[in-house]
Amino acid sequence: MSTDITGTDAWQQLQNHFESLSTRNLREIFDEDPKRGSELTVTVGDLYIDYSKHRATRETLSLLTELARASGVEARRDAMFTGEHINTSEDRAVLHTALRNPRDLGLIVDEQNVTVDVHDVLDRMGVFTDKVRSGEWLGATGQRISTVVNIGIGGSDLGPVMVYQALRHYADAGISARFVSNVDPADLVAKLDGLDPATTLFIIASKTFTTLETLTNATAARRWLTAALGDDAVAKHFVAVSTNAERVAEFGIDTANMFGFWDWVGGRYSVGSAIGLSVMAVVGRERFAEFLAGMRAVDEHFLTAPLESNAPVILGMLGALYSNFFGAETRAVLPYSNDLARFAAYLQQLTMESNGKSVRADGSAVSTSTGEIFWGEPGTNGQHAFYQLVHQGTRLIPADFIGFAEPTDDLPTIDGTGSMHDILMSNLFAQTKVLAFGKTADEIAAEGTAADIVPHKVMPGNRPTTTILAPKLTPSVVGQLIALYEHQVFVEGTLWGINPFDQWGVELGKKQALQLEPALTDAEAPDSQGDSSTDALVTWYRRERGR
Ligand code: F6P
Repeated sequence: MSTDITGTDAWQQLQNHFESLSTRNLREIFDEDPKRGSELTVTVGDLYIDYSKHRATRETLSLLTELARASGVEARRDAMFTGEHINTSEDRAVLHTALRNPRDLGLIVDEQNVTVDVHDVLDRMGVFTDKVRSGEWLGATGQRISTVVNIGIGGSDLGPVMVYQALRHYADAGISARFVSNVDPADLVAKLDGLDPATTLFIIASKTFTTLETLTNATAARRWLTAALGDDAVAKHFVAVSTNAERVAEFGIDTANMFGFWDWVGGRYSVGSAIGLSVMAVVGRERFAEFLAGMRAVDEHFLTAPLESNAPVILGMLGALYSNFFGAETRAVLPYSNDLARFAAYLQQLTMESNGKSVRADGSAVSTSTGEIFWGEPGTNGQHAFYQLVHQGTRLIPADFIGFAEPTDDLPTIDGTGSMHDILMSNLFAQTKVLAFGKTADEIAAEGTAADIVPHKVMPGNRPTTTILAPKLTPSVVGQLIALYEHQVFVEGTLWGINPFDQWGVELGKKQALQLEPALTDAEAPDSQGDSSTDALVTWYRRERGR
């Protein structure tokens, strides 16, 4: 049996403490602990993380640490880093952390030196992307590649697209990237718009090389290319990233142009593997190495920092506090950087595909809620859309704010004297302040507000936030942010006793879609799909399509 964390003394103690904590207000908590703003912070690599604006006293934090310890997080973390098969339902090691091992850090897993394997592939990626970037690799008509199109979905898309956008300032070889994921043909058609087949390189990214969306889009892309340049052009315009050499060869891509990875890299943890090839093609191998080193810096912190000052442990346990005690359902992620526009989408797969589970690793039912719902948009856009509910709504929505000292771009303000980036950042600081401390009825009345309007203007405050700051959005910082969230997922998953590394829930829908497709297209298909709603929907669709 997996341990039911709710049966431990540490859980009981936190439960007892919560009775008084739940009525406490962040104003009071700050009044009685005035240094918390500077002391409840942790620096990891380049990240300065302020967790003082959480509904947690120092006692709460210490009880959370004890709970993390009781969950066995240290032993499990070590088991992950050393390659034990902690993904039990698939009997696999979980070694995305090995993707960022320094070259000299040997790690033997299942009788294989995985660090050597990782660096072999990184070297091959480096050689290949050097050629593409320098123009040594030419398309079939002898022209240089100016666009790479990554075709993949889920973990084979969300990581690269997010990092590409975040690092757009580091594109230095005249190569841009586009990303196609959806089986909706509108995606491919829109992304191919304006591209010249002669200067386009497709990267077909699929761990399994069986994913219908990716193979369908890849086939359509190949038709687009060969219609213009002929069949022989495929060799110069298609490469693959996969663990499945056989399927890659079947598709018609020379396995000499395939970059591999391993079953111990989960899709949503794979951006540091060959899945990042499109990013490397755009920013170069040196920047990609910095990105990996950023991840490694957080790995080392996670491995060595005491639990009390271990950022992923603190943040993961605070996430669990809100989910399991305060009854929060979601966590907002609000980067004050337009270049991180896809960060929330990336985190949705990382966190929700990992921790959206209802049974523990041994198959027994969990006894707590699991899996925070992640969502978000860059600031300040979100402020003019959904922040109203975060500020004055009835739900508790913990939020992570992310900001940078140095802008990736800056422009003068209206009067030409200030910096637009300062406006952006003052919004970030203002939002976390207002969310925490609000504004009382007395304060609003004192401003001369009419009595009947006062209740509408009251800002309840007591809304928790984490603020994550970094000097600049560099490749290393992007890597650090990713690893910070990866390890939070791990801490929460360990607490709940679940396996964050499988995703069986995605499979049935895929199978049903395959089974259902003939009913949409085939006159001979069986009349019923087994339920009246699906039957009515299929009938409507067929009629509209004239079938
Ligand atoms: O969505 C399910 C999933 O299996 C993800 O875990 C994965 O990232 C995605 O599909 C794509 O899989 P593949 O890389 O094998 O095409």
